[in-house]
Amino acid sequence: MSDSISKTIKEYASEYQAQHLKELLDFLRIPSVSTDSEHVKDIRIAAQWLETELKQLTFEVEVIETAKHPIVYAEKIVDDSLATVLVYGHYDVQPVDPIELWDSDPFDPIVRDGLIIARGATDDKGQVYAHIKGAEVLLNTDGQLPVNLKFLIEGEEEIGSPNLDSFITDNKEKLAADVVLISDNAMVAPNTPTITYGLKGLSYIEVHVKAASHDLHSGAFGGGVPNPINGLAKMIASLHDEQGRVAVPGFYDAVIDVQPEEREAYKRVPFSETEFAEELSLSATPGEANYSLLERLWARPTLDCNGIAGGFQGEGAKTVIASEAMAKISCRLVPNQDHEEITRMLGDFLKENAPEGLSVEVIDLHGGKPALTPMDSKEVQAAAKALSEVFGQETIFARTGGTIPVVSTFQTELKAGVILVGLGLEDDRAHSPNEKFDLVNYYRGIESSAAVLKALADIK
Ligand code: BES
Ligand code: MN
Ligand code: MN
Repeated sequence: MSDSISKTIKEYASEYQAQHLKELLDFLRIPSVSTDSEHVKDIRIAAQWLETELKQLTFEVEVIETAKHPIVYAEKIVDDSLATVLVYGHYDVQPVDPIELWDSDPFDPIVRDGLIIARGATDDKGQVYAHIKGAEVLLNTDGQLPVNLKFLIEGEEEIGSPNLDSFITDNKEKLAADVVLISDNAMVAPNTPTITYGLKGLSYIEVHVKAASHDLHSGAFGGGVPNPINGLAKMIASLHDEQGRVAVPGFYDAVIDVQPEEREAYKRVPFSETEFAEELSLSATPGEANYSLLERLWARPTLDCNGIAGGFQGEGAKTVIASEAMAKISCRLVPNQDHEEITRMLGDFLKENAPEGLSVEVIDLHGGKPALTPMDSKEVQAAAKALSEVFGQETIFARTGGTIPVVSTFQTELKAGVILVGLGLEDDRAHSPNEKFDLVNYYRGIESSAAVLKALADIK
């Protein structure tokens, strides 16, 4: 450590790039899929891997058991007079399916054309690891951290963080912080430093529709019995009106609408509707009437069917009326919608709109709260300035349609300012095949982390 202390952050970070890459690839090799019981061991291995890493950086580390997957908590307290920053992230990842659409093994990371390709590369192992390396850079250049630093890295984010809220509520003193710093989001465009100030919430249900006790010959019974697939299709179609609005009564009651200043600010965001459509090979971008594409993506609540199943799926034609059908439906929510209330309204609406003769069962799968963070606070302004300096570009303020359920808990329970710094890109293929993190964004993420922590030193 000692011979590097005279180096600048930039010098150290660039000298150690190869080492920092090798370590991230090791982390990505651990298949820490939280949804899949086959991977419970790997989840633990990932938690222990982080424990070892953080101990090497002289943090005090605990791996804390929960009802499901462990939480990794680490801290390094420098001086009570300094600001305390809590970095939150998650080490769990999404499943890899459909595996056949990957060009390489999702858990055998490769670097190709300047991209790190692996499950978790951007969401969120790569981004959270950039902060761990940010701390390393500071320790090995300045010899000490500029702030008291805590890490809270969970293993259940992709399953809705079921055990995290109670952990935070029960450990307010341990977790106490002036600022919570998170990179589990994205920049609006390449080379554009971004602070995300709005996240959507989530209400997610599964609906089962049943009719006869068994599948029926469609010739012998067609026209005389209810068809669960026809019925479910009709129910799903009833969820939107002609204006692209969600038709569930009360759905918009609590919505804080896009403010006029926000509308103006969105026009200055480097976002092209044409490029957006082209990149996704789309011929149109339909949605709620009277709102721009960016407003719909960032600030309006939405409803989508995520999956649908039922009946004959095999080769050729089979003349049959299935006895049941199923759909998965999610709503993305905005402040101040309440996910429990929305789940109830949606379930009631589906039941009321079910065609005659069908039984409907609604299962609540999970939910998450939306969040908005202030843009004018001292800490956010300090972070924005630091990011601008690292990138040589002005920092942009953006919202996103994604959900990080714990953000609103940090605000209400820890009373901390939350800063969401996107280190990856919106099209990093999170949750998709060939998930990636650009090498430049990883390296710049490490520098950004160090710069932001330095800038937060005296915000207290
Ligand atoms: N990192 C994402 C959240 C995110 C996505 C933020 C896109 C910004 C842009 C997070 O890991 C995630 O996937 N969250 C889930 C919700 C959770 C309750 C399963 C999501 O948004 O679908
Ligand atoms: Mn994530
Ligand atoms: Mn995710």
